[in-house]
Amino acid sequence: MTVHDGAPVFDVLDLAKRREKAGHIFELRVPRFVLDRGGIVVARGRSGCGKSTLLDLLAMTLEPSESGTFRFSPAENEKPVDVAGLWRRKQEGRASRLRGRYIGYVLQTGDLLPFLSVAENILLPLRLLAETNDRLMPLAERLEIDHLLKKMPSDLSVGERQRVAIGRALVHDPAVILADEPTASVDPVTADHVFRLLLDVARERGIALVVASHDWLRLDALGLPALEHRLGHDEGCVRSEFWN
Ligand SMILES: Nc1ncnc2c1ncn2[C@@H]1O[C@H](COP(=O)(O)OP(=O)(O)OP(=O)(O)O)[C@@H](O)[C@H]1O
Ligand SMILES: [Mg+2]
Repeated sequence: MTVHDGAPVFDVLDLAKRREKAGHIFELRVPRFVLDRGGIVVARGRSGCGKSTLLDLLAMTLEPSESGTFRFSPAENEKPVDVAGLWRRKQEGRASRLRGRYIGYVLQTGDLLPFLSVAENILLPLRLLAETNDRLMPLAERLEIDHLLKKMPSDLSVGERQRVAIGRALVHDPAVILADEPTASVDPVTADHVFRLLLDVARERGIALVVASHDWLRLDALGLPALEHRLGHDEGCVRSEFWN
C-alpha cells in the first residue's frame, strides 16, 4: 500500500477561471497554492478581486477554465484526488460527494435555510451524508448558540446567524473550512469574537481553513498568513492572481 501521509490538503498549480459578464472579462489565476493539513490562510483583497471565485474553485462548485494540477487530499493515508481530472471527465457527482464529506463552506450570504430550525440547519450536512454524531451540543455551546437551537433563522441576529453557519460548516468534522467573509455585516466586537471562535475551533480540531476577507486590519492583527495577491488590467480584462 502506498502511504500518502504528507500530502497537503490542496496542491494547486496553474488554476484559472475566466468569467465574462456584460462585456467585462475577469480572470482569476492561481499559479501555485499549497495548503497543509490543518493550515490556515487568508485571501484578502478588495471587492470584486475574485475571493469568492477562488473559494468556489477550491470547493469544487465551479469548473475551472484551466487547471494544470489540482489535487485535493482530504484524508490521511489515502491517495490525493485529481480534481482537474474529475472536471475533465465530467465526474461532478464525485466532486459533490467529496465536498459534502470533507468541506465545510461558510457562505458570504450566511445562507441558512429559512424553513429549518437552527438545530436542523446545523445538522443538515450530516443528514445529507446519512450520518449521525453527537457534536451538535458541544459545538453549539462552543459557538454560544446552544440557547437558540429551537429558533428559526429569521428570529436571529446577523451575528447569531453567522455562528450558526459556522456550526453547520463544522458539524461533519470536515478536512477544510472555506469561510467567505465570515464576519461581514456585524459590529467590530462581534466580528472579532466570531472570527476567534472560528479560528480556535479549526485549530483545536486540526481543520485547515481558508478565509476570504476584505477586513485586512482585523486579519493583520491576528497575524494570519495571507496569500500573495496581484490585480492588474490587461487588454480589457481584469486579471487577479492569488498564490503562496
Ligand atoms: N456568475 C458570474 N458570472 C460572471 N462573472 C461573475 C460571476 N460571479 C462573479 N463574477 C465576476 O467575477 C469577479 C470576481 O467576483 P468575486 O465575487 O469572486 O469577487 P470577491 O472578491 O468575492 O468580491 P466581494 O469582496 O465583493 O465579495 C467580479 O468582476 C464579478 O463581477
Ligand atoms: Mg465575495
